[in-house]
Amino acid sequence: MQYERLVKWARDVLEARGQSTNVKAIWASAECSNQIAQKRVKPGRRLRGKARYQGFEMLDCPYIEPISDFTTRNNKMMLTATAGAYVFLFDVEDETPFEVIYTSTYFDDDVQDLTAIALVPEDKLETWSAFEFACSRAVRPRIKRRRDVYIIGGSDAFFDPTVDWDDVILPLDLKEQIYNDVESFFNEGVRIYKELNLAPFRKLLLAGVPGTGKTMLCAALAKLAISQKRIVVYVSGSDRDGATFEKIQRAFQAVASAKYPTLLVVEELDAYLRGDDKARILNVLDGVESPNNPKGSMMLATTNYPEAIDERLTKRPGRLDRIYVIPPIQDEDQAAAMLRRYMGDQWQDSYIQVVPALVNQPGAFVREVALQARMLAAHNGQTEVTLDLLEQSVESLDQQMQADRDFLMQRRPMGLGMRSSRRSRFGFRSDS
Ligand SMILES: Nc1ncnc2c1ncn2[C@@H]1O[C@H](COP(=O)(O)OP(=O)(O)OP(=O)(O)O)[C@@H](O)[C@H]1O
Ligand SMILES: [Mg+2]
Repeated sequence: MQYERLVKWARDVLEARGQSTNVKAIWASAECSNQIAQKRVKPGRRLRGKARYQGFEMLDCPYIEPISDFTTRNNKMMLTATAGAYVFLFDVEDETPFEVIYTSTYFDDDVQDLTAIALVPEDKLETWSAFEFACSRAVRPRIKRRRDVYIIGGSDAFFDPTVDWDDVILPLDLKEQIYNDVESFFNEGVRIYKELNLAPFRKLLLAGVPGTGKTMLCAALAKLAISQKRIVVYVSGSDRDGATFEKIQRAFQAVASAKYPTLLVVEELDAYLRGDDKARILNVLDGVESPNNPKGSMMLATTNYPEAIDERLTKRPGRLDRIYVIPPIQDEDQAAAMLRRYMGDQWQDSYIQVVPALVNQPGAFVREVALQARMLAAHNGQTEVTLDLLEQSVESLDQQMQADRDFLMQRRPMGLGMRSSRRSRFGFRSDS
């Protein structure tokens, strides 16, 4: 076992340094080898047990090849983790100084999870744990400066909260319910949660088939949140790292340490529950590790597959407080409003005739119909979109989607699928 070799190696080092009495081998916090922590936790820092941290030295360990991990934050490369062997030095008032031999390493090539061990004098565990705590505090993402949107896992291009609330076209009562849920939580709910000794954290899920406006709703609610001086934390699973537990954890830490009320947006929550991290994510959603931001925080998650989210998640209140189904177009009024919006100043009253064909389609369908018709008209040198052209556009898109569905059903009889096939279901969605 790698850890046994490391403990034995550490004992030998300690002995060679003339300090080997009564040490305990412990699993330690991987943050002590993080270079951000090593820079921020300065020698001279006071720790519990009348002790002071006095700095560190790197050690050569035959079993560890030091390796670093970088991520980009705000366009800057940032060193986030380093595996290696170190000795940490401590002074204690009226006692002899002591040392802690520490190693962190990846035990497994597949799971990039750092594991650390340390040899700590038995009577100094308290001091050591204070040191570990200082290190993990130092690397935690902290929201200190006032910024409106924090993106975790991706660049700012992933989420652009510029959508106006009025541009989201949904059944009015549903829109109002969601709006009131958010506002009443931040305005009155936070106080009520606290009176009940609950962490003021509320979780809403927006569920629905692709293209009904869930992402748009998140963007519009984020814009409203910013106008109310709340912070938005957006977690994206679309970058290279995918939908990982680590991102959710980072997001929760950011939310907890924010000095402002916070809206946390997690898109495609189901993707996080597909991998090995499922149990950990459920645990977090369970509330065990709910972020406790005294100003209040709300999680807004989206999914196409509420049934893929563990059934316990949707059945058990507490894990998610409310599920709002964001439906396709419900009636002709809604369809007409949507078509008017996407035809813009090209609108003609005769278009009302295609409206019945738009009911039960997602909003994204109407947008694409309108875009396609307008582009074709321009391409043909027509100055206006004729009703005929609009009708053709509806028909061809409808057929194309049916063909897509048939194709996918043949290839994927089990129902739930991978992201890639989900995306191609609505082949026309190119911008989101
Ligand atoms: N309810 C709506 N009101 C206005 N426009 C809409 C609506 N629904 C969809 N659209 C249009 O379709 C585009 C795609 O919708 P959006 O990305 O919000 O769907 P989604 O529900 O998040 O889909 P997915 O589940 O695939 O992520 C939007 O950018 C918008 O232009
Ligand atoms: Mg979406």
